[in-house]
Amino acid sequence: METALPDGTPVRIRPIRTSDVRWMIPAFHRLSRETIYQRFFTFMSDLPRPMAEHFANVDHVHRQALVAEISKGISHQPAGIARYEPGENPAQAEIAVLVADEYQNRGIGRVLFHAIMEAGRENGIAEFCADILSENHRMLHLLEKETLIKLSKVQQGVTHVVFSPKES
Ligand SMILES: CC(C)(COP(=O)(O)OP(=O)(O)OC[C@H]1O[C@@H](n2cnc3c(N)ncnc32)[C@H](O)[C@@H]1OP(=O)(O)O)[C@@H](O)C(=O)NCCC(=O)NCCS
Repeated sequence: METALPDGTPVRIRPIRTSDVRWMIPAFHRLSRETIYQRFFTFMSDLPRPMAEHFANVDHVHRQALVAEISKGISHQPAGIARYEPGENPAQAEIAVLVADEYQNRGIGRVLFHAIMEAGRENGIAEFCADILSENHRMLHLLEKETLIKLSKVQQGVTHVVFSPKES
C-alpha cells in the first residue's frame, strides 16, 4: 500500500519479510531507551537474533507484521513496524507498534495502526487488544482517537485495552 504522511512524504506499507532481520538489528541499536521501554516494558541493550528472526517470520494470518518505509527517490527507508500476535483471549489479536525515533510524530504510527487492524480484519479478526504503559499518552491517544474501545483496565502501570476498528 502506498500513501502519504500529512507533510506529503510518500510512505509504503508492506508485509514483513524474513530478510528484514538484516536491518532490524542495526535499527534497534539506534532506538532511544524511551522508545525501547515503551515498546518492550524493559530496557534491552540488544535485539537478540533469535528474537529478530521470530519477529520477521510470520505466517501473515495468525501472526502478521507490516513495515512502513519512507520513499527516498528509488530507495525505501524502514521507519516503523506494526504487528499482531494471537492474544491470551483467542477471540483477540494483540497489536504492537514501533516507529523509529527520527520518524515519530509525523503520522506513521497512525498509518501503521490502521493498516495492521485492516490486515487483521481481512484475516477474520474483529477484536484487538494492546498493553500500553499508562504513561504512554501518545499511544493511548491514538487508540482513543482511532478505535472503538470496549475495555480499558489499568494494572500496575499498564493499561490493557480491548478495541475494534471504528468502521465495524
Ligand atoms: C506510539 C507510536 C507508535 C506512535 O507513532 P507516531 O508515528 O509517533 O505517532 P503519530 O504521529 O501517528 O500520531 C501521534 C499522535 O499522538 C499525539 N501525541 C503526541 N505526543 C502526545 C502526548 N504526549 N500525549 C498525547 N498525545 C500525543 C499527536 O498529536 C498525534 O495525534 P493527532 O494526530 O491527533 O495530533 C510511536 O511514537 C512509537 O513507536 N513510540 C515508542 C514505542 C511505543 O510506544 N509503542 C506503542 C506500544 S506497543
